Parts: sequence; C-alpha cells; structure tokens
Amino acid sequence: MQKLRWGLVGGGEGSQIGFTHRAAAQLDGHFYFDAGALDIDTEKSKSFGRKLGLTDQKSYGSWEEMLEKEKKLNKEKRLDLVTVATPNSTHFEITKSFLKEDFNVLCEKPLTMTVEQAQELVKLSKDMGKICAVNYGYTGYPLVRQMRSMIMNGDLGDIRLVFAEFAGGFMADESDAQNPRVKWRFSAKHAGMAAITIDCGIHALNMACFVTDKKIVKVSSDFFSGIKSRELEDDNLSSFRMENDVAGRLWTSGLAIGRTHGLTLQVFGSKGGLSWKQEQPNQLFWTPINDSTRIIERGHPNLYPSAKRINKITIGHPEGMIAAFSNIYKDLFENINARKFDKNPSELSKSYPTVEDGCHSLEIVKAMKKSVSLNGSWARV
Ligand SMILES: NC(=O)c1ccc[n+]([C@@H]2O[C@H](COP(=O)([O-])OP(=O)(O)OC[C@H]3O[C@@H](n4cnc5c(N)ncnc54)[C@H](O)[C@@H]3O)[C@@H](O)[C@H]2O)c1
Repeated sequence: MQKLRWGLVGGGEGSQIGFTHRAAAQLDGHFYFDAGALDIDTEKSKSFGRKLGLTDQKSYGSWEEMLEKEKKLNKEKRLDLVTVATPNSTHFEITKSFLKEDFNVLCEKPLTMTVEQAQELVKLSKDMGKICAVNYGYTGYPLVRQMRSMIMNGDLGDIRLVFAEFAGGFMADESDAQNPRVKWRFSAKHAGMAAITIDCGIHALNMACFVTDKKIVKVSSDFFSGIKSRELEDDNLSSFRMENDVAGRLWTSGLAIGRTHGLTLQVFGSKGGLSWKQEQPNQLFWTPINDSTRIIERGHPNLYPSAKRINKITIGHPEGMIAAFSNIYKDLFENINARKFDKNPSELSKSYPTVEDGCHSLEIVKAMKKSVSLNGSWARV
C-alpha cells in the first residue's frame, strides 16, 4: 500500500485535540503530513505549520486558501485525506467544501450542528464517491473492537442491556462558567442542539451502537443544568431502546467531580457481561453468567482478529488514546488505498466511524431534545 498525503484544518497550537491527530495520523507511518491550515488566525496558522515542518507553500493561512491551492494539484500530489479539527459550528461548511472538491474527509465530532446538515453530507459523500468519516476515536481501542467481536460472535448470548457513561467533573467549576473557552459550549448559538450531550455523551452513544451493531430507536431524557447560568444542559440521564428491544442507559455529565474522564461502557447479555473503562483501556472485564470475572488483556494472543489487527505493542505495556485514534487512521489508510488502486479493503478495516454514524448520533440528540420538551416521554429517533 502507498503512503498517503494528509492535511489538517484546525488543531492549532494549544488546541485540545490537534496534537493527538498529528501524532495519530503519523504513528504507523501511513500518512505524510503534507499541508495544514491550523489556526483561525492567519499568521499563527502559517507560523505553526512551519514550526511543525510544513513547507512555506503548504502552510496555509486559512482553509479556503488550502482548498483553492490543493484542488488544483494533479492526482499524484493531491491530499488523500483532510482532517477537520475546528470548533463544531465550522464542521459542516469545511467538510462540505472539501468533499465537493473530491477530497476524503475525517471530521471531528459532532459531524454538524443539525440533522439536516448531516444528511446533506451523507448524500454528498455518496454522490462524490468519497469517504467521509467522523472521529469517534474511542472505537479505535483494541478492546472496544474485542467487545464488538465478542458480541457479534454470540459470546454474551442475547444482548439485553447497554449502560454507557461519559461523566466527569470537567465542567463543574462555577467560577469557570464565564470563561470564554467554556461558555460557548453551553450556548445554543455556538454549541448547537445540546452541550454535554454533544460534547461527551455522543461518544458513549456511538460506542453503544458500535459494539452492539444496533441503532437507537427511541429515547426518554432528563436534561439538567447544575450551573444555573447555563443555557444548555451540563447533565443528561437518558433511557433508550435499541433495535431488537435492547434497553440502554446513558449518563453524561460535566458535574461529576471526582470522576476524571469517566467514559465507561457495560454490556449485559443472557450469557454474561462486559465492562470497559477508558481510563484503563488495556483491560476488559468479562463475567460469564454464574462464574467469576476474568480480565481480558490487550495484546493477548487469544483475542479476536479485530483486536489483534490493531494491537501495537506487547501485552502489559499500556497503549492509550493516541494509539486508538491511529487505528481510525489505519482503517482509513486501508480504505483509501483500496479505492485508489481498485482493490477490496479488508472487512476489518471497514470498522471506522462513518458519516452515517455521525448523522445517527445527531438524530439521537434531536430526539432527546424532543423528549425533554415532552417532560421525558419517549421520543422516536
Ligand atoms: N474525538 C474526540 O475525542 C475529541 C476530543 C476533543 C475535541 N474534539 C472535537 O475537536 C474539535 C476541536 O476541539 P478542540 O477542543 O481542539 O478546540 P480548541 O478550541 O482547543 O481548538 C480549535 C482549533 O481550531 C482552530 N480554528 C478555529 N477555527 C478555524 C478555522 N476556521 N480554520 C482553521 N482553524 C480554525 C483554532 O485556532 C484552534 O487551533 C471540536 O469539534 C471538538 O468537539 C474531539
């Protein structure tokens, strides 16, 4: 397979997620960091790009300039993938513009601000024959893929209940509520339909769908703002139902002081239960019914091929978030190469989160808002 050209929009100096993308995209040596428009500020964008080793010509002052110049390059020199890691309200316009000019895109979550915009991107990526992926990067952890394989292979029997949490204390400080970097996240104008649900809960919902390979069909939600000056919710406890009448619960919160990152996923079936925590991602807890709990270690040779394929270092040496994100890039690398050279990608490489997944997440959040407006009654997705 051929090493691919990669461009980054956003993720500038000091941003939360820029470093992780740059490290992850290059971790396996699959992508070459070729171009960037890294910051909203033109000068900072150019100077940070140069600092990271981009040439003067490829260190752009804006994403519009990057698109204008890059689209004119011939096939061999064109970017194979563009990552969009800017604030939420810009995702739609940037992703749409690159897709329209025939680029593959990996967009940060949430894909867009509205369901209608997300549906437009689903259609556009199909019409253009381009990959549009959404960075639900936690699905790149080997043991999350192991969970999915165990469920798909019937190890848990019939799935009855999924319990997904993304609750931490990261938005609990009232004195921080007026901080501009925090405040926008709770404003409908800048954050979109919801706050903590879009920021964090959406990952947990996506993971529930990913490991069970099921969609969510209805929700009943209670949104709460613990910090009263906030327009949007900083806590959400929801019940949901998935296809095949699987019950689900989501708790997402920014108020849970004492919990650090707080992303956990538990799945309970007729033959046993699984429990995984992002803070200890190298261990998966598996309890067969009427038996004691076992620890499944990342890197063990008895894992399913889906987990073995993306294992990077030997058992006992912890892998983390950068490696997980890099596995999304690995999937994209295989899929883009397959398209370029008219080959079939491996089945396992098709596990990356798609534009349809990004759209489904927004449909769920929209239904949650509806349920809240109906005092928690069930709302269809
Ligand atoms: N997948 C994950 O786990 C994860 C984690 C954190 C953040 N995110 C998502 O990543 C995105 C960025 O979040 P963040 O926390 O890094 O934000 P941030 O505010 O820390 O950084 C945003 C960066 O984008 C740049 N930027 C803003 N507008 C731009 C534009 N028009 N053109 C070019 N650059 C522009 C800014 O200058 C800054 O460098 C958000 O959508 C967020 O939801 C995802």
